[in-house]
Amino acid sequence: MMDWTDRHCRFFHRRLTAHALLYTEMITAEAVLHGDRQRLLGFSPEEHPVALQLGGSDPARLAAAAAIGAAWGYDEINLNVGCPSDRVQEGRFGACLMAEPELVADCVAAMRTCVTVPVTVKCRIGIDNQDSEQDLERFVAAVAGAGCRTFIVHARKAWLQGLSPKANREVPPLDHARVYRLKVAHPELEIVINGGIGSLNEAQAHLAHVDGVALGRAAYQNPYLLAEVDRRLFGAAATPPSRRDAIEALLPYALRHIAAGGRLNNIARHVLGLYHGQPRARAFRRHLSERAPRDGAGIAVLQEALQLVDGAPTAAMLAAE
Ligand SMILES: Cc1cc2nc3c(=O)[nH]c(=O)nc-3n(C[C@H](O)[C@H](O)[C@H](O)COP(=O)(O)O)c2cc1C
Repeated sequence: MMDWTDRHCRFFHRRLTAHALLYTEMITAEAVLHGDRQRLLGFSPEEHPVALQLGGSDPARLAAAAAIGAAWGYDEINLNVGCPSDRVQEGRFGACLMAEPELVADCVAAMRTCVTVPVTVKCRIGIDNQDSEQDLERFVAAVAGAGCRTFIVHARKAWLQGLSPKANREVPPLDHARVYRLKVAHPELEIVINGGIGSLNEAQAHLAHVDGVALGRAAYQNPYLLAEVDRRLFGAAATPPSRRDAIEALLPYALRHIAAGGRLNNIARHVLGLYHGQPRARAFRRHLSERAPRDGAGIAVLQEALQLVDGAPTAAMLAAE
């Protein structure tokens, strides 16, 4: 999610779930081709499985960017056909491409010739006045015809004019049943539902109708819900990590990041919601949001926050005594 998630967020989320597929925020093909690739594409091996999401509409340039992403080790290349921001529309990519199924098909076909990992598409159920069942069917049929097997479908349309990206995630009504019907019409495709899914109970209910569930805001704002994903959705036997385990597993990573010249807050900002709904969550959050951005902040800030929320010192604190 642009401006929210990044490699540090994924590393943290991976402390909570081994199996969920994690996505990068959308990165434009042009940025991949011309930008600082280490900054844009770099990730830790521990983040696997991880998908690179690209934005663009030029088949050759998307194909070149996909090849670069695959060479960097991404497990999937995803094309964004769901973002409604003005900036993105000016570049003629994101959700406005739902009006051009043939072009999206050409993009997917070109990307697939350059990579062996899956090329997938994230889209909406419609845009503007092209939001009928037939419009969605036309789009999916064309793009599937180019070899896309997996569609992640945000179950609300986007209005391309007059609504901010934020409003476009809230105002158009959710229509999960539309996505279920897409799966009925295309049993051969992997259909992943997205939009407004706030708990694993809801996720499990959706899985009776579709192949997968994509969580956006809920996973970011309440990351601990990821801790039960492996057991409940993937049938894994492992005991879920505690919140404390997740932070303690992050400490060596944060130390390395700071030693390499990074700031604690690059990592700590993703942890703010970890105790969402728990006693003393506010003290935890306040400590991190006040102290982690300061110059020279070290991992002690994370350890102190942990102590504030559940009292016990961390293993590293005890070792230092
Ligand atoms: C701050 C923010 C940034 C987002 N950036 C992206 C993005 O880069 N690519 C994308 O496919 N969706 C992006 N989204 C949309 C989410 O992936 C998701 O489709 C949407 O929020 C609905 O799902 P949710 O209700 O689970 O959050 C973003 C959402 C938010 C809140």
